[in-house]
Amino acid sequence: DEARIGVTGLAVMGRNLARNLARHGHAVAVHNRTPSRTEALVREFGDEGVFVPAERPEDFVASLERPRRLVIMVKAGAPTDAVIEEFAPLLEPGDMIVDGGNAHFADTRRREAALRERGLHFVGAGISGGEEGALHGPSIMPGGSAESYEALGPLLEDIAADVDGTPCCVHVGPDGAGHFVKMVHNGIEYADMQLIAESYDLLRHAAGLSPAEIAEVFRTWNTGRLESYLIEITAEVLAHTDAATGRPFVDVVLDQAEQKGTGRWTVQTALDLGVPVGGIAEAVFARSVSGHAALREAAQGLPGPARSRVKESGFADAVEKALYASKIVAYAQGFHQIQAGSAEYGWDIDPGAMATIWRGGCIIRARFLDRIRAAYEADPRTPTLLTDDHFAEALGGAQDAWREVVATAARLGIPAPGFSTALSYYDSLRAERLPAALTQGQRDFFGAHTYRRTDRDGSFHTLWGGDRSETPA
Ligand code: 6PG
Repeated sequence: DEARIGVTGLAVMGRNLARNLARHGHAVAVHNRTPSRTEALVREFGDEGVFVPAERPEDFVASLERPRRLVIMVKAGAPTDAVIEEFAPLLEPGDMIVDGGNAHFADTRRREAALRERGLHFVGAGISGGEEGALHGPSIMPGGSAESYEALGPLLEDIAADVDGTPCCVHVGPDGAGHFVKMVHNGIEYADMQLIAESYDLLRHAAGLSPAEIAEVFRTWNTGRLESYLIEITAEVLAHTDAATGRPFVDVVLDQAEQKGTGRWTVQTALDLGVPVGGIAEAVFARSVSGHAALREAAQGLPGPARSRVKESGFADAVEKALYASKIVAYAQGFHQIQAGSAEYGWDIDPGAMATIWRGGCIIRARFLDRIRAAYEADPRTPTLLTDDHFAEALGGAQDAWREVVATAARLGIPAPGFSTALSYYDSLRAERLPAALTQGQRDFFGAHTYRRTDRDGSFHTLWGGDRSETPA
C-alpha cells in the first residue's frame, strides 16, 4: 500500500491525469488492460514522479493506501460498467471508485446506488480541459457523497487548475450531480462554439473578410470582454494555412461537425426537465444539419436572396455585441438547467460555485465566468442571469446591434440559428404578453384542454361547439 491513488485506463486522458498526480508528488498506481500502455507510461514519464505499475487488477488494488482511491478513465457506457465490475469485488467498504469519464449522469446515479449497497463510494467526476487540461490542471466536477469528497477533495483540488489561488474543483453534490454539471458544461460549450462559428460566417460572407482577417478580429476580441479559451483557439484555427494546398485551413476541412453525445444529452435532459435551452439545442441541430450531406446536396438549387454585402464599417463591432449578448443568453439557459436539475434530484448545487470552477482549466474557461460568479454572489436566488445588473446593462447596450445582425443574417441568407434563438428567448422573457394565450385557446377548442384566466383562479372551458359560454372545468 504505497500509492495514494490509482488510475486505470491509460489512454491519453488517463495517462495525463496520472502524470499530473505524480508531478504533484502523489505516488500513483497505474494500470491498463493492455500492459504495454502501462509500461510505456513508466518508460516515458517515470522520472516525473512515483508511479507504481501493476499488471494484474489484484496487484493494482493491493498497492493503494486505504481507503482506496481508484480512478477509472475508460469509455463511457458498457466499458465503464465492465471495469467497475472488475474492480469492485476487490475493494473493501469505505473504498472509492472515481469515474472521470463523460458518463451520463443517470448511469452515474445507478452505479452510485448499486455500489453504495456494497459499501463502496462511487464518485462521478466531470473532468474538463482535454488532454492538456488533464496534464496541467483541469476543471474537476466531482459528485458523490460528502464523505468521499473529504478523502478525495484535497488530491483533486491539488491537481486542478486554479484561478487567483482558488482551485477549479469543488464538491458539486451527491450521486450524479458532478456528471450532470459536466454534461451541461459541454452543452454550453456547444452553444458557445456555434455562436463563434456564426460570427465567423457573418464576418466572412456578410462583410467579406478573409479567414486571416477574421483571425485578427478574434484576436482583438480576445483582449476584451469576450476573452476566453474558445475565442483564443478560434483565432489560431482561422490563421492556420493548410500545408498541402496553401489555402486557409478552414477552407479544406469538410464542413460536417461531429459530436460524441454530451450536447445531445444536455438537450434531451432539458426537455425532460422542461427547461428552454434553445442556444444549446440549436447548436446540436446545427451540427446535425451540417452532417446531412444528402439533404444539403438536394437543397443546393433552392433560391436565396440576391446577395449583397453589408457595408463593412462597424459590422465587426455589431457582431461582437451580438456574440456577447447571445453568449449571455446561452449561459443563462445552461445555468437554469443546472438549477432545475438540482431541484429535481435534490442536489443542492451552488450555481455560483460552478461558475467559479469553470473560470480555469475547462474548455469554456473565460473571464466571463467571473461575471456569472459575481451575479450569483449578488443574488444567489436570481431566477435568471439576464436580470443581473451587469448582464442587463450589457444586453441593453448590445440589443440594437444584435437585432441588426440577426436581420442582416436573414436578409443575406446566412444561417444564424444561435443568434436568432438567443434574441427570441430574450424577447420572449421580456414580453408582457405572449401568444401562448392563443395556443391555450386552440387547445381548448379542439381538445377541451381547458385554460386559466388572468382575472380569476381556476380552470375553464368554453363550449366551442355550442353556445360558446364558459364553464368552470
Ligand atoms: C471537455 C470537453 C470534452 C469533450 C469533447 C466532446 O470539457 O474537455 O467537453 O469533455 O469530450 O469536447 O465534444 P464533442 O461532442 O464535440 O466530440
